[in-house]
Amino acid sequence: MKLVVVTSRCPISHEKVAGRETVRVNVGGVATALHQALKNHGGSWICWGDGNSDRDHEEEEYEGYRIVRVFLDRAEKHGFYDEYSNGTLWPLFHYFRERIRYAEGSFQQYSRVNQKFAETIIRKSDPESLVWVHDYQLTLVPGMLRKSGFSNFIIFTWHIPWVSSEFFNILPQAREIAGSLLQSNMITFHTELYRKNFRESCERVADPEMSVDDMTFAYSLGIDYKHYSDDTHIKQARFAPAERKIIFSIDRLDYTKGLINRLLAVERYTKLYPQSRGKFLYIMIVTPSRTAVFEYQKMRRDIEMEVGRINGILGDINWQPVIYMYRKVAERALLSYYRNADVALITPVMDGLNLVSKEFVAATQKGVLILSEFAGSAFNLPQAILVNPNDIDAMAHALARALSMGPEEALQRLKAMKTSIRRRDINWWINAIEKKADELMHKGRPDYVSGN
Ligand code: G6P
Repeated sequence: MKLVVVTSRCPISHEKVAGRETVRVNVGGVATALHQALKNHGGSWICWGDGNSDRDHEEEEYEGYRIVRVFLDRAEKHGFYDEYSNGTLWPLFHYFRERIRYAEGSFQQYSRVNQKFAETIIRKSDPESLVWVHDYQLTLVPGMLRKSGFSNFIIFTWHIPWVSSEFFNILPQAREIAGSLLQSNMITFHTELYRKNFRESCERVADPEMSVDDMTFAYSLGIDYKHYSDDTHIKQARFAPAERKIIFSIDRLDYTKGLINRLLAVERYTKLYPQSRGKFLYIMIVTPSRTAVFEYQKMRRDIEMEVGRINGILGDINWQPVIYMYRKVAERALLSYYRNADVALITPVMDGLNLVSKEFVAATQKGVLILSEFAGSAFNLPQAILVNPNDIDAMAHALARALSMGPEEALQRLKAMKTSIRRRDINWWINAIEKKADELMHKGRPDYVSGN
């Protein structure tokens, strides 16, 4: 069996910087897992070539498989990526109703781009290929493939939350999107809750004969546990004098990450616990994302104002509570932050999974995890200090609790979390999905995949 993996992002991009070509590797958790699956089986990875030098590399061999790039012109990129994927679907699926935009013509561009992906899949598949499509940027692909008479087995993996059916139905294209996804043979989510919401959302569109239950599954994406827990990767540095505890977070810049509330919680902590002043540092790393989308530009300004305000009010010549960095960090540096942090403060207001929380647990040997109950990973990490990210006081108290937790309790919680993350690691995830696909394939394709 050969795999045809399909994502919006490529595993590597070619960029020309000051006349010199460089290769940018996508180190995200999903990319790492799919890279592993393709290395095991061989096949192709179809993705959007958005690097400024990618057009010179339409197809290339890479570590045992083939990367096949789909190219978009400026209008397609804007309508597909900035507008419909990230201006409509992203806020919708994170319950940000007031941020949902319905830009004229954007769904048409989104459909055109999905069609380009579908055509490339048909060109690059042979009858044995197992097609594995990912995420909200490509919802129309299964339906388009079936319309062209494509009958290969299709897995669709959804990486963000799936909202309740009432909320999903806000979307003008709700029927079209659910109808297309149901043309897959198997759909996977990261939690049971998203799976349940999806099933309920399909009630209006699914054929009454069809059992959505039998084709939907919840498998929470795991991490490469060995890599994150391996000591030799990790620098033993202290970023602060021993009497200052380190609180750490790293997030893509996004309104779903609850960054402002988190800053307010740090401020509230110093108000409710005045003895904490000067005794901690909050290292907040925010990585640039979707920089052409207005919401993201505004969010950046809001965060930077808030950091400045808090440091201005609380700081003095010897202490600035928040150390803010707006940039990507290298893998080694990230491991070093994980390893040296006393507390990881991971409080998204809504997050499909959140691999940072899993990576931190694997890497730390003493740290305490404060985690939002609205991160998909909270279902796997009940021993974290779980918080509601809308409750600033509760987050402040959680910080106090985490920073004063005795080593015994911290280790006991960590041990349980490490065991669960080690057991359900990246290979577990790939194997579970492949095994289920194999099982379903051998049962034969159900009748409802009728190509309509
Ligand atoms: C989330 C989505 C992915 C997406 C990633 C980065 O994790 O689930 O599909 O690729 O964010 O966003 P970007 O817009 O840079 O692809």
